[in-house]
Formats: sequence, structure tokens, C-alpha cells
Amino acid sequence: MNPLLQKLQPYPFEKLRVLFKGVTPRADLAPISFGIGEPKHATPALIRDAVINAMSGLASYPATAGSEPLRQAIADWTRQRYALPAVNAATEVLPVSGSREALFSLAQTVIDSRSTSEPPVVVCPNPFYQIYEGAALLAGAEPYFVNSNPARNFACDYASVPDAIWARTQLLYVCSPGNPTGAVLTLEDWRELFALSDRHGFVIASDECYSEIYFDEATPPLGGLEAAHKLGRGFGRLVMLSSLSKRSNVPGMRSGFVAGDASILKQFLLYRTYHGAALSPMFQAASIVAWKDEAHVRDNRALYLKKFTTVTPMLADVLDVRLPDAAFYLWANVARTGLTDTEFAARLYADYNVTVLPGSYLARDAHGTNPGSGFIRIALVADVDECVEGARRIVEFCRSLAQ
Ligand SMILES: Cc1ncc(COP(=O)(O)O)c(C=O)c1O
Repeated sequence: MNPLLQKLQPYPFEKLRVLFKGVTPRADLAPISFGIGEPKHATPALIRDAVINAMSGLASYPATAGSEPLRQAIADWTRQRYALPAVNAATEVLPVSGSREALFSLAQTVIDSRSTSEPPVVVCPNPFYQIYEGAALLAGAEPYFVNSNPARNFACDYASVPDAIWARTQLLYVCSPGNPTGAVLTLEDWRELFALSDRHGFVIASDECYSEIYFDEATPPLGGLEAAHKLGRGFGRLVMLSSLSKRSNVPGMRSGFVAGDASILKQFLLYRTYHGAALSPMFQAASIVAWKDEAHVRDNRALYLKKFTTVTPMLADVLDVRLPDAAFYLWANVARTGLTDTEFAARLYADYNVTVLPGSYLARDAHGTNPGSGFIRIALVADVDECVEGARRIVEFCRSLAQ
């Protein structure tokens, strides 16, 4: 067996299962889950219909590169969304089966683990989406975690990374809007990252799967390609990953894309020809419809806005929490309750049948601390009433602790 598999960590939800083992939640309260970041709003009818109307696609093998109309729809969306002068549908975009598999397989394409005597490094934010770490380890690289700083809107302190680490770095993941913090990278953050990438030659993979969940219609989150363009830089060594899962409430469709540096995408396509994760023709057809329609995305945002503007002030009375820049998580500091994040999650589950994810499960111990500890992640994915009821229970729980 591949010995690198032994390096993989248990997924946060496995840790949660262990934490909750033997705990019986109160039976008189219906369970409410703020744990998993799975979109729960209804899939728009136009996408469901498009899947059904494309059933004949079951009879063909899909092309790994995706259909030309899908690539064009993605290129058009990317150009418009990020105010880019041009995006080449033939060379600068590639449909993928959800951003998760692409985040993983990209590392297998980009990393050359035989190029130096020491293992290559993949720089990851901390806390982070767990796939980055597994992708790095299975590519034969070492993850290096850069802690996010709550005092700087959870920005990562890249200036703290030693030159010896940068010298071995082949890939850097960023997540903007971030899971779990919701923080969006600023143009200045991008300027710093591009300068580092230009100096040290590493690839930047920008995970932007939450880019369409934001709270002010006038200020959509800045994207990596957009930042590159604004800073007068091309897409060299830069790819962004996007997804329909959250934007269009189709996590089961497994549809996303990678866009950016054509020379990386060329090699990625070669890799994927063997990897074999082409998107089903039915889902390619439905993805075209989804990328071309913004009305359902605005409706989706309106639902999140309602939830966040109702629930955040309720919770801010008892926890340190505020409206994030974007995405659908509240990243709440529980320190003032006197409980650790794991104690908080376990007791909230036992006493109020509400599931939240301890922040320490989403981060690693690095530089003497676990930057997720003391936080909980609350995924506001259920409908408004359920989110409000869950928040009411959290408030009651926190007040019961204070007595
Ligand atoms: C930060 C982040 N990136 C990527 C993904 C993967 O999304 P998908 O594979 O559905 O596009 C998720 C899913 O929860 C996520 O939280």
C-alpha cells in the first residue's frame, strides 16, 4: 500500500463523531445541524430541467476537456464576473467534477517531489479546508501552515514564513472567501502573494468556491484573476477554482472549473486524461445553463442575507462573532463562555441538540498554537426558521453557562 496514506488525518467530521460518541442529545428538541457546510437551499428548476433534458448524454463518454459550449460559458462567466478583458475558452478554463477533486489533483500535477533533496513544500492557510493537506501529502510534499490572524481579519502572516521554506515551496493554496473564516483577500494581500510567487516560483491555487455567497450586491468578493489583472500582471503561475455547488445549490452535481495559467491547465488536462474525472454530459449541459443565469444566484444570496442579518446579532450578544466578508459560515469565538471549542460543541449537542464544528478540528497545531481553538464554525445552511431556532438555542445555552 502507498505509505503516504498513513499520513492522512481523520476528517473533522470523524473527530466530531468521536466527540459525540456516547452523548445522548435531549430527545424533546429536534436536531439542528450547523456542522456540515453542505448547501441546503433548493436546486433551481432551470438546472433540474436541464439535467433531465440532457438524459441522452448518458449514451456518450464525455471529453475530459469538457464540451466547447461549457468551456465558453465558463470563460464568459469568468470574464464578466471578474471584469477581465478576455479569457480564452480553449486554453484558460477547464471544467472539473467539483472543486474538491481539482484542488486535490492539481497538487498531483504541479508537485515535483524529485526535484530537491528535501521534500517540496505546499503552503496552506491555517485553519483550512482539509483537502489541501491531503493533496500535499499524497503528492509527496510537506504542508507548511501559515496561521490566520484574527486581529487582521484572519489574514495569513506570510511575512513570517522563512526563506528556507519559500525556497522549497512549489504550491500555495489560498481560500477566498475563506472556509471557515469567510475572510476575503484584499488587493494588497494579492500583491504580496504575487511578489512571493514571482520571487520563489511557486504556483498559487486560489480556492474561490464561496465567491458567490456575499452580503452586499455592490461589492462581490475580489477574485485572484481579477487581482492579477488589476495589478497589471498576467495569469502566470496562478489558477483559481470555482464551483456550482454553493452558487447554484447543486453539491450533488459535482461541477466546477479551474481557470488561469494556460501552461498549467495544459499539463492539468494531460493529467486528467489519465485521472479520469470528466464531468457527465448531462451535468455539462446543466452547468452551461447554471453559469449563464445570475437570477437564481441573486435569489440564493438573498436567502443567506436574511439568515445572516437575523442570526448574527442574536449570537453577538453571547459570543464574539460578526458578519463575515462572505461565504456561509459564522466563525465565532467562544472564549467568553469559559469553555473550550470542543467542550462547547459537546455540551451544546447534549443539552440543546445543536451541532456545530469545533474550530480546532479545522486547523493544525502550528507555531505553538492551534489557531482554530476557541472558535466554533456555524454553517448557516438550513432554512431561515431552523437557523433562527438554532441560534435561539445557542443563546439560551450560553446564558445558562453564565448563571
Ligand atoms: C473551501 C472549500 N473548497 C472546496 C470545496 C469543495 O466544493 P465542491 O467540490 O463541491 O466544488 C469546499 C466544500 O465544502 C470547501 O469548503
